[in-house]
Amino acid sequence: MKPLQIALLGAGTVASGVVKVLARNQEELQRRAGRGIALAAIAARNPDKARAALGDALPITTDFMALATRPDIDIVVELMGGISPARELVLAAIAAGKHVVTANKALLAIHGNEIFAAAQAKGVIVAFEAAVAGGIPIIKAVREGLAGNRIEWIAGIINGTTNFILSEMRDKGLDFATVLKQAQALGYAEADPTFDIEGVDAAHKATILCAIAFGVPVQFDKAYVEGITALQAADIRYAEQLGYRIKLLGITKNTGEGIELRVHPTLIPATRLIANVEGAMNAVVVQGDAVGPTLYYGKGAGSEPTASAVIADLVDVTRLHTADPEHRVPHLAFQPDAMSDLPI
Ligand code: NDP
Ligand code: HSE
Repeated sequence: MKPLQIALLGAGTVASGVVKVLARNQEELQRRAGRGIALAAIAARNPDKARAALGDALPITTDFMALATRPDIDIVVELMGGISPARELVLAAIAAGKHVVTANKALLAIHGNEIFAAAQAKGVIVAFEAAVAGGIPIIKAVREGLAGNRIEWIAGIINGTTNFILSEMRDKGLDFATVLKQAQALGYAEADPTFDIEGVDAAHKATILCAIAFGVPVQFDKAYVEGITALQAADIRYAEQLGYRIKLLGITKNTGEGIELRVHPTLIPATRLIANVEGAMNAVVVQGDAVGPTLYYGKGAGSEPTASAVIADLVDVTRLHTADPEHRVPHLAFQPDAMSDLPI
């Protein structure tokens, strides 16, 4: 059977990881997906930029729309970030009958309802494991692994950049601006790092988790968002002296009367597991009524950890794409359920 043809929109940090890991693990991926996954083309904004990490296997086009709708492409992988033109490209790809894999939490937190409705109407899949907590398969855990539970709450460190900043400030006494520059150089930060430090990126992710956990539409505008820019080195020191660590948490909780959705710095006793999550690592606690608390830990940002999640989606979509269409379940889309009238 002909390999599934993949188009990458974007050729930056995450895309480079996808190219490398796809090439390195080709055989395993073919075995798991039941079919080859072939990278057909890549689009980037600047054709003249040196892209050593991508190798020289493929030509780079600047015509994103032509690539997103090209007839021979089966799966469009959106790794450019931002809202526009990512939204237009994803919708055009869906309209052209392509499955979409995206790591773009900003896009999904704001336009997810429109995008998933379009995908459902067209019978294609939009998969987004990489959009929350980088390499941790938290979307699968909540939607599949914990499918037997009523989710009570989710709380986690879901932004690697801010956790890296808080860890380095505490351990090495470095100042905020210096550590932020390091996080950018390591490929952790968003193109606009204010999204990280003001808590917006974590709120995008919490919004997506909230939708999946509680069966509500994405409602980013309802989130309470507070980042770490008001924190000073002294706050971190005093917290330490009192036996606490400060962590930026994304929290969503079903109170029975409504749903909480919030991001803010939180004092956590230093003896708790989550207080000891350092650097760009992420950790998410999900409380289910049947299973109790479950904890997911791993690299929340960076090239290959994020590629790990993108490629897991590619394998999933390839499996479903190859399956008999009558038995294909659109389970990767949001499916607001009976609880969807709960206010956030
Ligand atoms: P980069 O900035 O490294 O790469 C973005 C790529 O998209 C670049 O190739 C850039 O082209 C292209 N691009 C960006 N904006 C436009 C535009 N307006 N028009 C055309 N092309 C554009 O980003 P990342 O790889 O870090 O992130 C990609 C996505 O993955 C984002 O949605 C991000 O939030 C998400 N993500 C990132 C993680 C990380 O650790 N970095 C982790 C999880 C998710 P050019 O190179 O020519 O400028
Ligand atoms: N900027 C994000 C972070 C990338 O630092 O967590 C991963 O989503």
